[in-house]
Amino acid sequence: MDKFVVRGGNPLLGTIKVSGAKNSALPCMAAAILTEEEVILENIPQVRDIETERRLLESMGAEVQLGYGRAQHRTHIQCAVLSDPVAKYEIVKTMRASSLVLGPLIARTGMARVAMPGGCAIGGRPIDLHLKALEAMGAVITQDHGYLEAKTDRLRGAHIVFDKITVTGTEDILMAAVLAEGETVLENCAREPEVTDLAALLIAMGAQITGAGTSTIKVRGVSKLHGARHKINPDRIEAGTFLIAGAITGGDLNIDSCDPTHLGALIAKLEQCGVRIDVAKDHIRVRSGGELKAADISTEEYPGFPTDMQAQYMALATQTAGTTTVTENIFENRFMHVQELNRMGANISVQGRTATIRGGTPLQSAAVMCSDLRASASLVLAALVAEGETILDRVYHVDRGYERLEEKLRGVGAQIRRMGDVFGKK
Ligand code: EPZ
Repeated sequence: MDKFVVRGGNPLLGTIKVSGAKNSALPCMAAAILTEEEVILENIPQVRDIETERRLLESMGAEVQLGYGRAQHRTHIQCAVLSDPVAKYEIVKTMRASSLVLGPLIARTGMARVAMPGGCAIGGRPIDLHLKALEAMGAVITQDHGYLEAKTDRLRGAHIVFDKITVTGTEDILMAAVLAEGETVLENCAREPEVTDLAALLIAMGAQITGAGTSTIKVRGVSKLHGARHKINPDRIEAGTFLIAGAITGGDLNIDSCDPTHLGALIAKLEQCGVRIDVAKDHIRVRSGGELKAADISTEEYPGFPTDMQAQYMALATQTAGTTTVTENIFENRFMHVQELNRMGANISVQGRTATIRGGTPLQSAAVMCSDLRASASLVLAALVAEGETILDRVYHVDRGYERLEEKLRGVGAQIRRMGDVFGKK
């Protein structure tokens, strides 16, 4: 099992570069299923989930080249023939976002066989809203030995109102709608930048979409889509993680190649904590502004405070003067980092969906366990300020969504190294 060894106490100083967004790249890679022509995606992050998506597409018959040259991280995908439109359990069980192939597969081939995604560390993660929408568009969906079988002659446009705001649900159904017959109206959509990024690719492929990024999206189905080249958005959660790294270590960090307009809620909250933040077009400077003040958060769908930044913010809250309450409204079990932070000296209690953090607690190094992607990031941030050497186990969780995290942090003065093999290094 890979481990990180982190010695705390160094303020982070210098410039750190943000990679492409994993949660944009995954739906955009799935969108290549919608055409037999080549789709080229640039600024792809070198992370484990992208590798999993590559294996998933290849298992269905796609040709996928994935290159991480110094200059440009790029993937070429061509689904000329989908010889086996099945998303197999051994792949789906490792990445819930595999369900993103459901909509494009049905739209392209009229059928799909996708292993039902299990839950994961942060919650049950059902896809009932995806299925309900596809049935409204004419898909017949049955369950068969742990797989979902979906069939249709051709999807037809429908008026769909999502019962809950779902990011991949919006993306999945958007991809189903672009080849459906007639018009589809989607209401109560997710407004995340990743939805807008996917829509930009689909429009470049010839889709007719209006309203992406708002809660109502309209699609006029077309009979065919063509290939396209598209650059993936910067990863707003990686950028946010680095913002907190600069704040928690009392450093002076330039976060480069990011999009500050995607980070409004986090920036406002950090400024409330007394952190100094200067925003430019594609980079942000974060500096300590003296003593950190407590400021409560409540996670909401975009543009509210992102659930994917909740764990990282909690690490910062342990260092603020005062008491912070963190309310997690999106997932039912996203406090797995709490007991590990408490083992490092934090003082956090949980009541239902609300955690109470009594700040001003010096953190001590400890042996801690990573449980999911963002909880792992929270432990890395805590280790950067803990006294002594912290060992983090099961850092493969980090590799799912952060590209070369230890290298990037070392580049700005963190004392962090990996024990065990490095993902992506042959
Ligand atoms: C996406 O997950 C992200 N993943 C998650 O990021 C992120 O935390 C989440 O959106 C919320 O922003 C990707 O984009 C690949 P949802 P997703 O559907 O789409 C319930 C990370 O750390 N729901 O918006 O799976 C669901 O249980 C990951 O990068 C249903 O009930 O999340 C949850 O409570 C973690 N039925 C809420 O909606 C459904 O059919 C929001 O989930 C779908 C969702």
